[in-house]
Amino acid sequence: MPHSPLSFKLITFFYLLLTLSGASLATVGHHRRPRFSPHNYRDALAKSILFFQGQRSGKLPPSQKMAWRKDSGLFDGSTMNVDLVGGYYDAGDNVKFGFPMAFSTTMLSWSVVEFGGVMRDELNNAKEAIRWATDYLLKATALPDTVFVQVGDANKDHVCWERPEDMDTPRTVLKIDRNSPGSEVAAETAAALASASLVFRRSDPSYSKLLIKRAIRVFEFGDKYRGSYSNGLKDFVCPFYCSFSGYQDELLWGAAWLHRATKNGSYLNYIQENGQILGGGELDNTFGWDNKHVGARILLSKAFLIQNVKSLRDYKGHSDNFICSLVPGAPFSSARYTPGGLLYKMGDSNMQYVTSTSFLLLTYAKYLTSAHTTAHCAGRTITPNALRAIAQKQIDYLLGENPLKMSYMVGYGGRYPRRIHHRGSSLPSIAEHPAKIDCSSGFSAMDSDSPNPNVLVGAVVGGPDQNDGFPDERSDYEQSEPSTYINAPLVGSLAYFAHSFGQL
Ligand SMILES: *[C@@H]1O[C@H](CO)[C@@H](O)[C@H](O)[C@H]1NC(C)=O
Repeated sequence: MPHSPLSFKLITFFYLLLTLSGASLATVGHHRRPRFSPHNYRDALAKSILFFQGQRSGKLPPSQKMAWRKDSGLFDGSTMNVDLVGGYYDAGDNVKFGFPMAFSTTMLSWSVVEFGGVMRDELNNAKEAIRWATDYLLKATALPDTVFVQVGDANKDHVCWERPEDMDTPRTVLKIDRNSPGSEVAAETAAALASASLVFRRSDPSYSKLLIKRAIRVFEFGDKYRGSYSNGLKDFVCPFYCSFSGYQDELLWGAAWLHRATKNGSYLNYIQENGQILGGGELDNTFGWDNKHVGARILLSKAFLIQNVKSLRDYKGHSDNFICSLVPGAPFSSARYTPGGLLYKMGDSNMQYVTSTSFLLLTYAKYLTSAHTTAHCAGRTITPNALRAIAQKQIDYLLGENPLKMSYMVGYGGRYPRRIHHRGSSLPSIAEHPAKIDCSSGFSAMDSDSPNPNVLVGAVVGGPDQNDGFPDERSDYEQSEPSTYINAPLVGSLAYFAHSFGQL
């Protein structure tokens, strides 16, 4: 379940006041090459990908390794005579929300696009995780000018505590079309399909072509019929995955991915003509399932830095501004960190911003290195290695270098969250307890102090509070719930640290 960005904006505002009034952050003095770390990044990488198996909906294949999960949602779509079996549950519940599912797919794909070359044994697992989503997104976009954007009724699902294999709440199917548009979810779906087309370009060219053809069509639909799905589908998608940041950011982000995947100049023209309106002036440096502004900036900076697309020159400056907002002690720094050093955006699912921001830092560092240049913050030079050092500190914190010595990845290290807010993980498995556990019976497991019986290996939870505290309480969805969009960008960062420290 997602956040309320209003609280974030208030926090940012007060923080800006604090920094402007002279209260200073811990200053990072000299940036050295990333140092040797005791963490087993390879183990963490494998687990971060395995997590997605625990979130699978649909008919599970024989290769399923997370064996406590079984088939579920086998009739999804049937109420509208369409096949919507498959895809992922977003977090600790049993709803398939298309908007964050598409974003998670885009970030998994971006992880492979940038760092797949160093994923080694994990590359195929990452691609399998992407394909589980894209197979579903192809079903959801099979009809022209229509995207099926949700299966399940979140209000009804959330009053039950049921295994996905048992669920009996309505599998309500929601769609956007010409009459009820949803430009943000259409453009994010296009971004997911386009980025995935790059992932499969060499290994499965026909699948890749199918993905890009669909991405082009879905983007056209989202751009032509403009509107937010939070209007037409308000009662179902809000407050869960309501689009707070509007759809302009997704149109820019979708066009950026289509340009990267097709190299078709028409997307470049689109970005030039609409870039100011779609992305101009936005100062919010939050990057997550709702807000794609800074992701689009970093992505577009590559075309300028590496392909020398002159018309995108401004995106280098925009990206530098984003970087400057994060570097502790730099001019215009506005990011908050906990006393233990974790980037802190907001109380609800903060770790998603830690993983997404770390990914952008490593990706921008890669682009800057290829272009033999640096970032600039009001006259101060920030090297790619300085960006990597910030990202490493965040990832190491997540893996256990923090005041509580707690790994926030389930199943990694000796001390990790035992009572995560996740229905399937917290209830006995089908193998242990074949009889159905109905809607309200599950709450005895939810309320119990016992550790979860099924270890959702690789799941990263919302994480500590602003003082590095973590109660490990199942009812606390803000801190104890995992999600696909926390893990997706982490996959790329872990691949970098596992296999190419200081080389990219
Ligand atoms: C580029 O994209 C535009 C808009 O989708 C399309 O009309 C055109 O045919 C494409 N060009 C190529 C070479 O694919």
